[in-house]
Amino acid sequence: MTQSSSQLQSIQSCISNDIIAVNTVIQHSLKSDVSLVNQVAHYIINSGGKRLRPMLVLLSAGLFGEIKPQHHQLAAVVEFIHTATLLHDDVVDESSKRRGQNTANALFGNAASVLVGDFVYSRAFQMMVAVQNMRVMEELSNATNVIAEGEVLQLLNIHNAAISDEAYLQVIHYKTAKLFEAATRLGAIISGASAPDEEALSRYGMHIGTAFQLIDDVLDLSGNTAEIGKNLGDDLNEGKPTLPLLYAMRHGNASEAAAIKNAIERGGLDDLATVLSAVERTGALQHVHKVAENEAELACASIAHFSDSSYKQAMITLAKFAVSRNY
Ligand code: IPE
Ligand code: IPE
Ligand code: MG
Ligand code: MG
Repeated sequence: MTQSSSQLQSIQSCISNDIIAVNTVIQHSLKSDVSLVNQVAHYIINSGGKRLRPMLVLLSAGLFGEIKPQHHQLAAVVEFIHTATLLHDDVVDESSKRRGQNTANALFGNAASVLVGDFVYSRAFQMMVAVQNMRVMEELSNATNVIAEGEVLQLLNIHNAAISDEAYLQVIHYKTAKLFEAATRLGAIISGASAPDEEALSRYGMHIGTAFQLIDDVLDLSGNTAEIGKNLGDDLNEGKPTLPLLYAMRHGNASEAAAIKNAIERGGLDDLATVLSAVERTGALQHVHKVAENEAELACASIAHFSDSSYKQAMITLAKFAVSRNY
């Protein structure tokens, strides 16, 4: 067993019954009278995602005591929102592999992916409304809105080799960290946490989500296809300016910098070998690892004041996983 999978197992061990309860909600909530909706929605939801965001709702709840049915419901909601964004994202990114299998768009086409993504999104909102909590609705409607802005902001910066680190970080806060933040905050809201505790958990989620996406951008250049379950070099192919590429461009020699700038501006994988050797030579992956490690430390610092428990330990392990993961 790899270090990453044993970390995930240890995180799951204190919430194993709750994870089963969330999966039951997920399976019961996907029903539709329209066969293609069922087919595509079940295909993606059962394709082996890590279920990290629902785990964050549960662990955050665990810090305050009882994990309630409303937590299970909202954990499923968060996973549905994640699933809908993936259905849309793989169309936008023209990706053909996810979770080690063909993407829904590769199998069923772009139209089916976009439309079933809308179904999963709106089903999430039906389930959210059933919880009848205005704070929850406020948080989730804001989060989905910000995620959409993040994806559009990223679209605006495709082929932009001059993007600043700050602008890159804003994109990953919006497109990825925001949903992690919503997950931990929802756990706290349903548990009736105090305002400072809710803020602390929201900060934890935001930092974990940032670390998680930074490492995703590292894995796109250095991962193992079989482990990450996605095609390597997808970001480069698209001309997406990620932090490892930006760092290597700024710290490489003139010809390395020119190759990376060209690769971002034109997209495609023609310069892959040159880009990878520049990334290697400049220590770009180690640099981004350090940035992610710092985020993970900030995440752990945000929850330091909670008394020790298996849930808190699992959240600390999750911070380590976000940085050291290979999938
Ligand atoms: C993929 O997220 C999208 C990103 C934010 C990088 P995950 O890596 O959590 O996806 P699954 O659900 O485990 O496949
Ligand atoms: C992740 O997007 C964030 C969302 C899906 C909103 P990416 O495009 O960076 O992630 P992968 O590599 O497709 O999982
Ligand atoms: Mg993508
Ligand atoms: Mg994308």
